[in-house]
Amino acid sequence: MIIECKGLKKSYKDVKALDGLDLVIPKGMIYGLLGPNGAGKSTFINIVAGLVGADSGSLSVAGKRLPAESGKVKKLMGFVPQDLAIYDDLTAYENLAFFASLYGLSGKGKKEKVRNALEFVSLSDRMKDYPKNYSGGMKRRLNLACGIVHEPEIIFLDEPTVGIDPQSRNHIMESIKKLNKMGMTVVYTTHYMEEAETLCDRIGIIDHGRIIAEGTLAELQRTVSENELIFIEVHGDAGALAEDIGGLPGVISSEKEDGGILVNHTGGRGILEKIVAGASARRLDIRKIENRMPNLEDVFLAMTGRTLRD
Ligand SMILES: Nc1ncnc2c1ncn2[C@@H]1O[C@H](COP(=O)(O)OP(=O)(O)OP(=O)(O)O)[C@@H](O)[C@H]1O
Ligand SMILES: [Mg+2]
Repeated sequence: MIIECKGLKKSYKDVKALDGLDLVIPKGMIYGLLGPNGAGKSTFINIVAGLVGADSGSLSVAGKRLPAESGKVKKLMGFVPQDLAIYDDLTAYENLAFFASLYGLSGKGKKEKVRNALEFVSLSDRMKDYPKNYSGGMKRRLNLACGIVHEPEIIFLDEPTVGIDPQSRNHIMESIKKLNKMGMTVVYTTHYMEEAETLCDRIGIIDHGRIIAEGTLAELQRTVSENELIFIEVHGDAGALAEDIGGLPGVISSEKEDGGILVNHTGGRGILEKIVAGASARRLDIRKIENRMPNLEDVFLAMTGRTLRD
């Protein structure tokens, strides 16, 4: 296990940012930490990075306890913070050279690694330019390069795709896969469940500073799959129908979502017919009705009664 974290706590006055976080991350995987705003994702990453001290609990990386033995693992770890940590008055090259120096690189080795990192994020042709002239996506890519310039064994990325264009987003997604293929363990926070679903080998769902569900996507899906899901899309106002369906026997929840209604039910017989009859009674034409595999949003909803976007 490259990361082991037990009972990690951190409060800011009355706010429990981490409230006993337990997390074990095997080496070599892309691990997703998924949770809504304020769940504690950045707090966790910042504690690992040594930027913030925990109140209690234990944390180790590659078998070394943090913060006591942080010196021994510093070079193994890279960080890509949620808020950009690049200098506007240094060129891209100089930014990378600066971070490389922080990790103890110098001379030829440093130059080579800086060039590799620039190449990796496709910014070689813009290396002499200042980040203030970059697009948001290019800044994000430079931010990523700064975190991997010393070729760490494990990289922590805190929401690296927030607020960027689809092209840069894809670039970063592909970069993460490549880094992982090269042998890097990737720990990645996001509140985009689609990203976690497509990218991550394992996922920990975090809420109010605790892991509330953990496993592979298939394992997480199974935690809600004793229930079944039906998705229905109708012409017209779905709100009243959603409420009607919520009152049917065997229905656990019936929520407006993705332009339709998502019905979580215990799988009793005849439910589909009752839903169709309900739509018809309200004179709503059905555009689509289907059985659905639960996604991570459904897992979150089942665990907390809330949606990730609340
Ligand atoms: N420096 C701080 N001072 C006071 N409160 C803080 C501080 N940092 C975080 N918090 C609070 O701790 C909680 C967890 O915050 P954190 O930034 O870890 O969440 P997050 O999961 O990263 O959220 P987001 O998705 O918005 O980045 C929030 O309630 C936040 O307001
Ligand atoms: Mg955050």
